[in-house]
Amino acid sequence: MMKQIGVTVLTGAIVATSFGSIDASAHQQKHRLLDPDRVVNIAHRGASGYAPEHTMTAYQLSHKKLKADYIEIDLQMTKDGKLIAMHDETVDRTTNGTGAVKDKTLAEIKRLDAGSWFNTANPEYAKAEYKGLRVPTLDEIFDTYGKHANYYIETKSPEVYPGMEEKLLKTLQRHGLSSDRVKPGQVMIQSFSQESLLKVKQLDARLPLVQLMDAATVKAMTPEALDQLQTYAVGLGPSFKGLTRENTAMIRERGLLLHPYTVNEKADMERMLEYGVTGVFTNYADRFNEVMREMKKK
Ligand code: G3P
Ligand code: CA
Repeated sequence: MMKQIGVTVLTGAIVATSFGSIDASAHQQKHRLLDPDRVVNIAHRGASGYAPEHTMTAYQLSHKKLKADYIEIDLQMTKDGKLIAMHDETVDRTTNGTGAVKDKTLAEIKRLDAGSWFNTANPEYAKAEYKGLRVPTLDEIFDTYGKHANYYIETKSPEVYPGMEEKLLKTLQRHGLSSDRVKPGQVMIQSFSQESLLKVKQLDARLPLVQLMDAATVKAMTPEALDQLQTYAVGLGPSFKGLTRENTAMIRERGLLLHPYTVNEKADMERMLEYGVTGVFTNYADRFNEVMREMKKK
C-alpha cells in the first residue's frame, strides 16, 4: 500500500498524491518536471554536502551519482560582466581570495582556489582533488551539460548587478536553452527579488519562475499575497522552517509548486513530504532519494 504524502487540489477536485504517481518511470518523470503531483530533488549548490559548492565537481556528483533532478545554481556577476556560479557576493568564504565579485574580473576569479576551503571545513569529506577547483561560469556549466541536465537558477543580489537578467536570458539563448527549446521546467528561474523575476518574465514569459521566501514571510502568507504571486510565478521556494501542514495546504490548494530550502535532515525531509511539498532543495540529494524510497515502501 503506497503511503499518501500530500493532497493536491486542482480546479476544485481533490487529487490524492501518492508515491504511486510520483514514482512513475524515470522516462515519464523526466518530462513531468512541472507537474504538481511529482516530487523533484534539487541539488542545492550541487552536491554541496559532499564537495565544494558551485564547482563542476559538485554538479557532476549530484547529476551523475546522486541522481538529483536539478542542478541549483546561484548567479553572481563579475566586474567585466560575466555570470559565474557563486552563492556569496564576496569570494571570501568559498575561495582563497577576498573581496567582492563585482570588483573582480573573470580572469582574477579564475585564479582562485574554490575547493580547499571545503577540505578544511569538512574533514570527513575532504579529498585532495578538491584543492584548486575553479569557479565555473554559467557558460561552462551549459557547455558541459547542455540539454542533458535540468537547471534551477537563482538571480542573486540583482540590485548589485544591473543587467543580470538580460545576460542570463542571452546565455540561455546562446546554449539553446530558451523556454521554447527545452522541455517544460528544464530551466527554472528563482529569486528572492520579485523585481528580478518580473524582469525575467518580461524577457521570456514562458520561463517558469519561483519566488523564494524567508521563513517569516511564508509563515505570514495570506490568500491575497498568493493571488499576487500567482500572477507571475509557478511556485514558491520558502525556507522549510516556515512551513506548517496548514500553510502547505493553502499553497498547494492553488496548484502552486512548493520547493522548500534547504532540507538536509532525514526527519525534515519526511515531514516536508508528509505536508505535501513538490520538491526540496538539499545538499544531500542521495539522502532525499533514499527517504522517498523508504516512504514509498511504508
Ligand atoms: O535557492 C534556494 C535556496 O538556495 C535559497 O537560499 O541562500 O542557499 O541561496 P540560498
Ligand atoms: Ca540558491
